Amino acid sequence: MTQANAIIVGASSHLSKEIATKLAQQKVSLVLFVQNPDDMKEFAEQLPIKVDVLPLDIENPAAIISQLEKVWLSMDGAHLVLVNTGLNGYHESLPWQLEQDIIDVNVSGFTAICNTTFRLMREQGYGQIAAINSIAGLRGGPSVAYHASKAYAQNYLEGLSMHAQRLKLPITITDIQLGLLDKAAMQQSKLWLPPLPKVADQIIKAMQKGKRKVYVTKRWRLVAWLTMGLPEFIYNTRHWKVKKKK
Ligand SMILES: NC(=O)c1ccc[n+]([C@@H]2O[C@H](COP(=O)([O-])OP(=O)(O)OC[C@H]3O[C@@H](n4cnc5c(N)ncnc54)[C@H](OP(=O)(O)O)[C@@H]3O)[C@@H](O)[C@H]2O)c1
Repeated sequence: MTQANAIIVGASSHLSKEIATKLAQQKVSLVLFVQNPDDMKEFAEQLPIKVDVLPLDIENPAAIISQLEKVWLSMDGAHLVLVNTGLNGYHESLPWQLEQDIIDVNVSGFTAICNTTFRLMREQGYGQIAAINSIAGLRGGPSVAYHASKAYAQNYLEGLSMHAQRLKLPITITDIQLGLLDKAAMQQSKLWLPPLPKVADQIIKAMQKGKRKVYVTKRWRLVAWLTMGLPEFIYNTRHWKVKKKK
């Protein structure tokens, strides 16, 4: 295996398409896992190299494991697996089904992908697992299961990295702590909404440097530090509301 190759799991979002485009321009050969491969046909066809697009059944861990094993064999291993899957949602009444769906994608599915990839890279003798995670995992928040699932992902990646070191394996684990792009977009905040190519560039650079953890964009590192350091009575903005006089 000489040419660099990569698998992107959850490749249908704007961000992952931007990353896939940039990797394809660098002649990295790609396999993209998405929910609806037909929707990706046009995108895949305009890339400068041939790209395979395969269906992803993330809610079924056994299916993901066998999908990854099969594709691994067919492409003779991979240098990089980028995990970009994620599900978020909020409802005031915290319906169980929403929590279950988030856990299925962000915890069970995520673990099946990372665990299987780690095993395959261990057999291969090298590789890099990178995951686009969220600074939402640093503290609890209104999308209760989402915040908790991102904390899980962060700890899982740290554990994998420690395990690779214990086994003296050249497997790099990169945790990409993404700032809140959607929130910034919703608030039309120019200050916090970075252009997608810049976000993709910073992610690719961090992966190529083999970083263990990175905040994207860089300014979110400051928010992360503040978030981690704040006592709950300040972090929880509900406390800021002035009580109405009776
Ligand atoms: N966007 C943000 O503001 C933000 C901020 C911080 C962190 N993050 C995290 O960064 C990662 C990437 O986010 P993003 O904004 O690029 O994309 P996204 O809209 O959060 O979705 C990421 C990917 O997950 C896939 N996915 C979701 N549910 C799925 C399911 N049931 N089965 C199969 N695939 C499923 C999506 O596929 P489909 O499009 O086919 O559903 C998509 O390709 C996620 O982990 C996200 O939580 C996002």
